[in-house]
Amino acid sequence: MTTETQPARPLLDVRSASISFKQQHGAMVHAVRSVSFAVGAGETVALVGESGSGKSSLARLVLCLTRPDSGEIHLAGERIDHLSNRELRTRRLLMQPVFQDASAAFNPRRTVMQSLEQALRCSATPPVDMRPAVEELLEQVRLFPASRLLNRFSHELSGGQRQRLGIARALAVNPRLIVADEPLSGADVSIRGQILDLLIEIQESRGIAYLFITHDMTLARAFAHRVLVMYKGEIVEQGTTEQIFAEPKNEYTKILVKAAASIDDVAA
Ligand SMILES: Nc1ncnc2c1ncn2[C@@H]1O[C@H](COP(=O)(O)OP(=O)(O)O)[C@@H](O)[C@H]1O
Ligand SMILES: [Mg+2]
Repeated sequence: MTTETQPARPLLDVRSASISFKQQHGAMVHAVRSVSFAVGAGETVALVGESGSGKSSLARLVLCLTRPDSGEIHLAGERIDHLSNRELRTRRLLMQPVFQDASAAFNPRRTVMQSLEQALRCSATPPVDMRPAVEELLEQVRLFPASRLLNRFSHELSGGQRQRLGIARALAVNPRLIVADEPLSGADVSIRGQILDLLIEIQESRGIAYLFITHDMTLARAFAHRVLVMYKGEIVEQGTTEQIFAEPKNEYTKILVKAAASIDDVAA
């Protein structure tokens, strides 16, 4: 790990975090093993690794949805992993999740208007006039025409529209970090590029940082400033995207980079 690639004053700072789970048959699985990394303000960090390597478990630790067995999570200079759920409420405004399956993330009985209104109400300074604020959010994620979508239920939207709604809801509280767990995996190939462009545009206009989880190395290469490679619960290598792809040092990283290169060759 090269120190010069670490942000000087990180927005998110994960220090030796570990979590184990007891599985149904009683065996323990060390899903995350002493993981350390940082994410700077406005930066995109991709977390890559095969299925089961611990990416989602690490995302849940960062979001404090699960507490680490050991180690620390710091957000905006403050340790947050030992705070109560009540204390976490205000800190969560700084950090919002976007999940793969947007359909599970919405209350089926709420309309688009109601879902976004509820999210806006949680923000530090809720707007007095909700409707224009909701319309503005929808426009930011390119859900048009806003007026026709307000009374729809999330299940009446297409998969791509629902994922945009998930992004709009995350943006409602004006976060500084979005933790996105495979946000494009459920979307059609044709709309993946559009959603990726949207995420980049949002970063440029708002200076948001992303912890972007994906098993797709090509996507990490196109999108991330830095890459963390996870294997069996550990971060086996981290560096700038350029370093990881040009001179991977870890054997597992080499395999991932090589596999991505051959897929790119086929696609070219
Ligand atoms: N709540 C849980 N209970 C038991 N085992 C879990 C739980 N969450 C994750 N695991 C296990 O931890 C390992 C890592 O899983 P996960 O974090 O979902 O990996 P990934 O997101 O990279 O596919 C897997 O072996 C998985 O079965
Ligand atoms: Mg996962």
